[in-house]
Amino acid sequence: MSSSYAEVYKSWQEDPEGFWMTQAAALDWFEPPKTAFDPKAGAYGRWFPDGVTNTCHNCLDRHVASGRGEQAAIIYDSPITGAKRTISYAAMLAEVEAFASALADKGIVKGDRVVLYMPMVPEAIVAMLACARLGAIHSVVFGGFAASELATRIDDSRAKLVVTASCGIEPGRIVAYKPLLDAAIEHCRHKPDATIVLQREQHRCELIDGRDFDYAELIKANAGRRIACTPVSATDPLYILYTSGTTGQPKGVVRDNGGHMVALEWSMHAMYGLKPGEVFWAASDIGWVVGHSYIVYAPLLHGNTTIVFEGKPVGTPDAGTFWRVIAEHDVAVLFTAPTAFRAIRKEDPPGSLIGNYDLSGFRALFLAGERADPDTIQWAERVLKVPVIDHWWQTETGWTIAGNPMGLGLLPVKYGSPAVPMPGYDVQVIDDAGHPVPAGTLGNVVVKLPLPPGCLPTLWNAEERFHESYLAEFPGFYKTADAGFVDEDGYLFIMARTDDIINVAGHRLSTGGMEEAVSGHPDVAECAVIGIADSMKGQIPAGFIVINSGVDKSDEEIEKEVVKLVRDQIGPVAAFKMVMVVKRLPKTRSGKILRATMQKIADGEDWKMPATIDDPGILDEISEVMAKHGIARKGD
Ligand code: COA
Ligand code: AMP
Repeated sequence: MSSSYAEVYKSWQEDPEGFWMTQAAALDWFEPPKTAFDPKAGAYGRWFPDGVTNTCHNCLDRHVASGRGEQAAIIYDSPITGAKRTISYAAMLAEVEAFASALADKGIVKGDRVVLYMPMVPEAIVAMLACARLGAIHSVVFGGFAASELATRIDDSRAKLVVTASCGIEPGRIVAYKPLLDAAIEHCRHKPDATIVLQREQHRCELIDGRDFDYAELIKANAGRRIACTPVSATDPLYILYTSGTTGQPKGVVRDNGGHMVALEWSMHAMYGLKPGEVFWAASDIGWVVGHSYIVYAPLLHGNTTIVFEGKPVGTPDAGTFWRVIAEHDVAVLFTAPTAFRAIRKEDPPGSLIGNYDLSGFRALFLAGERADPDTIQWAERVLKVPVIDHWWQTETGWTIAGNPMGLGLLPVKYGSPAVPMPGYDVQVIDDAGHPVPAGTLGNVVVKLPLPPGCLPTLWNAEERFHESYLAEFPGFYKTADAGFVDEDGYLFIMARTDDIINVAGHRLSTGGMEEAVSGHPDVAECAVIGIADSMKGQIPAGFIVINSGVDKSDEEIEKEVVKLVRDQIGPVAAFKMVMVVKRLPKTRSGKILRATMQKIADGEDWKMPATIDDPGILDEISEVMAKHGIARKGD
């Protein structure tokens, strides 16, 4: 192993608190922390408990003060609309101050929650940073979620205000956000006081008098106003990001201010190998954790230029769009999900469009969000001729748990492995009884507590659920809910989730949540939703429904209605398009649906007849139905 990684990891092991205290010095504090870690606070301790800071100050004011004012903070590149805009650090600060002033006038103060339901436009980042400036807590909701998902998040966070846009733009269609927001507010038990709407020229919307305010008018009215950064405790929440749990009720992952800044700032040079001033591009969406950490906070904390890309890897206009953006804006490092590369490869198998662009400044591609299949990594290496680096993390951690750290000197690549744990993480693999398993043996991947700075301290208003979901099963450890193994060289392999969460095009979705939506159909007696392998998206959901007797509709009719129901309730991002009517669902004698076996059948993996099955014949029926839909292959 590279001595550099090994040395740094060892230095963290020998003195974890000293290690993070040193990294904390890279940032500005109103009151620098005297204590690195308080083991008695919170569920497993808290980082920098006596530090006082402000994340917006560290993202903007600090850089303007140190002479980066004219450097681009954001390059907005929107092939879907044709728009392009470069915004300097100084201009960004001015717009954030104007918007923060407007929010303050609307009564937003430290600790208030503000929901953002926004497409990939710079104004979304302005809104995030304006909240951070005031010490308000933002909660960004991905634009591909439907009104009821938005309502759940407004209710759970008890948001005082919502910032939205008149529309998002998907290939071939305009997504009008305002009707979705209006429907969500109508359904909410908790009503926000006001909304602020960015009117986009592609589709303007009606504003409700006295409740809805125009973003551009507020910016104009507040231009030039200065507003100081509110001092916040390092342990105060910066944001809540809802992510899929095993039920339809999402988990509100809480991120604090201090630990988050320290971990992200460190990761920019150690993990991604970037110097301040360089251009970094995370091709994701601000609705996901990758967007929070690596479109917004980490690049700005580190003084980089970040690309805000509103488009798709293919079709906007073609599979050369990524190469165009890299060449045009001199991107040094790109971070995206493997599915984006599978999409590009499908359109342009030899990667010939790359030849049209000068990628000489491009240094590395990082992949995360789902398992990076070796085939995709090797293709990317071949066509791009730069290191292609898999790294593994979760919404909960906010930054890399295991990766190959470019800034510390790359280790040899092992295909299928995101490499080694980062400082801060003592990753172990244990069996269901909590005992360590030998190298090469599959088990539960856990992290010895405490988690490092940047990771979630709790779930919003759900301390009990936090404990139950992550800490209860293996005392002293954080349960990642991923299964995997460590090989003899200490490389980690992440193989699958141990819960009902599936990963569709790098998007984390709950099959339990989809089942709740499907069961809402009046003709469905019972149902199961599983994730099945898909060569493009990694996994896609497949629903199996048993219809009530005496229903006077065709199977096809009900299937269509169920697909529409999930799209309306969860959103298009669920990519729920496959429903199969079955006579019965396979169950154990105690009534548990055998989802894992169904998934194995669908994926053509070896499977064994479970000893506890109630009626073995049902699996044959299910296999036949799957075969009719072209998905079931062989069993044992
Ligand atoms: N607002 C509204 N709808 C959205 C949306 C948004 N922000 N993002 C996606 N959708 C819709 C899509 O239009 C699509 O709708 P459709 O069923 O009408 O076609 C549906 O949600 C599924 O979207 P997606 O999973 O993105 O599939 P896709 O077929 O549109 O594109 C890829 C496939 C691979 C190009 C795309 O998934 C992609 O770019 N992935 C990159 C990975 C990524 O960003 N991961 C995030 C974590 S790192
Ligand atoms: P999310 O919270 O959306 O980031 O999803 C986190 C989950 O995605 C993890 O628990 C893994 O199951 C999966 N995941 C993310 N990155 C990787 C990776 N590099 N390799 C394998 N699985 C990954």
